[in-house]
Amino acid sequence: MKDATPQTIYLKNYRVPDFLIDNTDLVFDLHKDYCRVTSALTLRRNPDSQNQTAALTLNGGSGLDLQRIERDGQALSQEQYVRTEDALTISQMPDNCVITTEVLIKPHLNTTMMGLYKSRTLYCTQCEAEGFRNITFYLDRPDVMSEFTSKLIADRQQYPVLLSNGNAIEQGTVDDGRHYVVWHDPFKKPAYLFALVAGDLSVVEDTFTTQSGRDIRLQIFVEQKDLNKCDHAMLSLKNAMDWDEQTYGREYDLDRFMIVAVDDFNMGAMENKGLNIFNTSAVLANPQTTTDAAFQRVEGIVAHEYFHNWSGNRVTCRDWFQLSLKEGFTVYRDAQFSADMNSSVVKRIEDVVYLRTYQFAEDAGPMSHPVQPDSYMEINNFYTLTVYEKGAEVVGMIHALLGDKKFRQGSDLYFSRHDGQAVTIEEFVGAMEEVSGTDLQQFRRWYKQSGTPVVEVQSTYNAEAKTYSLTFTQSCPNTPGQSHKKPFIIPIKLGLVGADGQDLPLNSKGDQSIVHPLSQATETLVFENISEPPVPSLLRGFSAPVKLNYAYTSDQLAHLMTHDSDGFNRWDAGQTLCFCVLQQLIENQIAGRELVMDKQLTEVFASLLSDHSLDPAMVNLMLQLPSEAQLHERADIIHVQAIHRARQFARKSIAQALQEQLLHTYQRLTETEDYAPVSQQIARRALRNTVLGYLMQIDNIGVDLAWQQFNSANNMTDKAAALTALVNCPAAQDKAQQALQAFEQQYAEETLAINLWLQIQATNAQPDGLQRIKALMETSAFSINNPNKVRSLIGAFCASNPINFHELDGSGYQFLQQQIIQLNDLNPQVAARLVTPLTRWKKLPEPNRRLMRDALQQIANQDGLVKDVREIVTKSL
Ligand code: BES
Ligand code: ZN
Repeated sequence: MKDATPQTIYLKNYRVPDFLIDNTDLVFDLHKDYCRVTSALTLRRNPDSQNQTAALTLNGGSGLDLQRIERDGQALSQEQYVRTEDALTISQMPDNCVITTEVLIKPHLNTTMMGLYKSRTLYCTQCEAEGFRNITFYLDRPDVMSEFTSKLIADRQQYPVLLSNGNAIEQGTVDDGRHYVVWHDPFKKPAYLFALVAGDLSVVEDTFTTQSGRDIRLQIFVEQKDLNKCDHAMLSLKNAMDWDEQTYGREYDLDRFMIVAVDDFNMGAMENKGLNIFNTSAVLANPQTTTDAAFQRVEGIVAHEYFHNWSGNRVTCRDWFQLSLKEGFTVYRDAQFSADMNSSVVKRIEDVVYLRTYQFAEDAGPMSHPVQPDSYMEINNFYTLTVYEKGAEVVGMIHALLGDKKFRQGSDLYFSRHDGQAVTIEEFVGAMEEVSGTDLQQFRRWYKQSGTPVVEVQSTYNAEAKTYSLTFTQSCPNTPGQSHKKPFIIPIKLGLVGADGQDLPLNSKGDQSIVHPLSQATETLVFENISEPPVPSLLRGFSAPVKLNYAYTSDQLAHLMTHDSDGFNRWDAGQTLCFCVLQQLIENQIAGRELVMDKQLTEVFASLLSDHSLDPAMVNLMLQLPSEAQLHERADIIHVQAIHRARQFARKSIAQALQEQLLHTYQRLTETEDYAPVSQQIARRALRNTVLGYLMQIDNIGVDLAWQQFNSANNMTDKAAALTALVNCPAAQDKAQQALQAFEQQYAEETLAINLWLQIQATNAQPDGLQRIKALMETSAFSINNPNKVRSLIGAFCASNPINFHELDGSGYQFLQQQIIQLNDLNPQVAARLVTPLTRWKKLPEPNRRLMRDALQQIANQDGLVKDVREIVTKSL
C-alpha cells in the first residue's frame, strides 16, 4: 500500500481475467493472535481471455504469511511461483486445476479495517473494494464470480456465533473447546461481497414472507447491551423488502438475511451477500439515545444495503470504474424509498442541499471526476459524492426522461438480462434505451464529463403576440483533465405561474408542467397564448444536477414562494432570496460597510411563522438560511469570517424582528404525544428547534428555554438541539458547561450519544475551538482508533467549524496535517477522507491560502505515505 509512485489504473486498459474461479473453499482457523486461512480455488482458464497461455497472478497483500501452496494436491516448488509485494504468480498453468494456499494473518494487529480485523471483541471483515486480498491470495476483482463455501473454526466460549454468507450447512465441535460452522452461498459472487463474523453476539429475530410466499428469517446481531436498539432497523428492513417487491418487483433470494453491528467500521455499512455488516451508528436506534436524523439515516442505510442485493450483488460491476452502476442506482433507490416512507418533498430538499453543498464543491475542486472515472490510483478514493449522489441524479434523470412505466421496464430488463453477471454502466443505459426507444447517446455524457453544468435563462414577453419565450444557454466549467465540454441533455421541468398564482397552460394539451430535455448549447422555447407576463418556475423538483440562473426580482421570488405548485421550487425560491440577501451582507462586511437587514426576507419569514396552515416541515426548511458550507461553495473566494459574521447578523436580525412570533411558535409546537420518529413529529421538533436556534440570538431570551428543554426533553433530538444551542451561545457558557457535564454522565455508557456530544463540541463556533478539540482528544471519550470518533471530533471540526478551523495563524491546518500523518499509518481510508478540507486551498484568500498549501505540502513530504493519502494530496497541490 505504501508506494512512492503509485500506479494509475485506466478504464481503457480493462482486460477480461485470464482465469475464472468456479468454487472457492475456505477454512478460517481463528486463534488468539493469528488466523490460519486455507483456500482451495477451483480454477479454469477463461475462454474469453486473449492470452490462453497466461500465468496465474493472484492478488495478495504483504500481510499474508504464506505457509503452503499446492496445485492439484502437489506442493509447488520455489521455481514454480513468484511472490511479490502484492501478488503471487504461478507459471505453467493447466487449463483446469485446484490451487490450495495456506496463509497466516494477524487480524488483531490490523488497524486499517480492511480485510479481516477485530472490532473490540468481534472478528469481522470488510472486503470492498480490495480487502479480500489481505485475507488470502485471490483474483480480487469483481468480474471473477465464484461459489463460496467457508468453514469457520474458533473457541466456542469466546466466539459462540460464527457467521458467513449464505446458509449454515454443517456445524460441530472440535477439540480444546473449539467449534465450527460451515457456510455455503449458492449464489456466485465476487470476493468483495464475502463476509465473516465471529463473536459473542445477541440476536433479534423476525420473519418476512415474500410475495411468492417464502418465509425469510431476519436476524440482527448486536452486543447484548444494544438489544434495545434494533427495532427500528428491523422495521426498516421489512419495509424495504416489501417496497422493493412493490416498486421494482425484486424479491429476496436466500432463506436468511443477517445484519451485524460493529463499532469500528470505516463506512456506514456494507452489503455482503446475506450478511450485511453495519457500523453501529447506521443500525442502532432508540429514542433515548438517537436523534430523529439518526433514525432516518438508519432507515435509509438499512434499505440501501438491502437494495444492493439486486443492484450490486445479483447484478454486479465488471470493474471499479462501474462503481456508480451499483452505488448511484442504489442511492437513487434508497432515496425513492425514503421519499415514499416519509415526505417526498422534504427528502428531495434534503438531498439537493447535500448535493449542492458537497458534490458541487467536489466537482469544482481538484478531485473533480466524472460519474464514471477513467482513471484512479486508489479506488477507495472514488467512493465519492460524485459517484454516489450525482450518479443517483443521473439515474433520476433517466427516470424523468422515460417516465415511470418505461423506467420500470428498463430496470426489469436490466435485472433479468444480467442476473449473475458483472456488467458495465453501458449495459444499464442500454437496457433503458432499448425498452424506451429513447436515444440516450448524448445523455451518456453525464457519465463521462465532470463538472457542474451551468444553465443561464433569459425570458421575453411579447404582449402583442401573447408569446413568452425562454432562452436557455448551457455551459460547463473546465475541470482537471477536461476542457471544451459538449452539451448535456438537461431535463428541465418547468411551469409558468400567473399573477393569480395559478399555473398557466403551456401547450394545446393544457399541461401545467412539462419536462423539456435541453440538448443544444442554446435553445429557445416559445409558449403561446400567454395573456400576461408569467413568473417562470424552472427546474422543478431539481430535475437536473445543474446550477440554473435566472434574474428573478425579489417580488417574483416571493410570488413563487407562496404560489408555486411545485413544493421544491417554493422552497428554492426562498433559498434564492436568502442567497441574494446574504450575498449583499457578505459584500458589505468585506468592504467594512454597515450591515442592514433586508426587510423583505424578514417579512417573508414572518408570514411563514404566522400561517399555521402550512406544513411545519416546509416552514422549517424555508426558515433555514443557507449554511456556511453552502455559502463557501457559491463563493469565488471564501472569506470565512465575513461569511460567518454576515450570516450571524442575518440570524440575529431575523430573531430580533420576529421575537414574538418565534416565541409563540416555540410554545405552540411543544409536543404532547409520546415520542415517535414519525414524519409529523419530526417536522414539529425540527421547526421548534430551528426557532430555538433563532431565539438564542437574542440575549437571555433563548437561554432559559434551551436550559429548560435540555432538562425536560424525553428524546435525544430535543436534548441535543438544546445542548447545541447552549454551547454556541456566548451568554450561556455556564449553563453550557453544566449541560455538557450532565450529558456526559447520563450517557457515559452510550458510545453513539457520546460521539454526538463530541460532535456538538467540535462544531462549537465560540473562539478557541482548537484548544477544546485538543483537550477532548485527551479524554477517554475519544480514541484515534475508532473511525466514528475521529469523524465526530476531528472530521467535524475541520469540515464544519470553519471559523475555528480557518484561524488566521494556520493552527487548524497544522493540527489537521498532524492528524492525517498519524492516521496514515493506522487507517489509510480514514486519513484520506480527512484531507478534503485542505484541498480547497485555492479558494481561500491569503494568508490562509498559503498556510493551507503549506500543510498539504508537509503531508506530501512525508515518507511512507499510503497511496490513499498521496493521491488526494498530489492531485490537490
Ligand atoms: N458498498 C458500500 C460500502 C463501502 C463503501 C465499502 C466504500 C467499501 C468502500 C455501501 O453500500 C454504501 O454505499 N454505504 C454507504 C451508505 C449508503 C446509504 C450511501 C456508507 O457506508 O456510507
Ligand atoms: Zn452502496
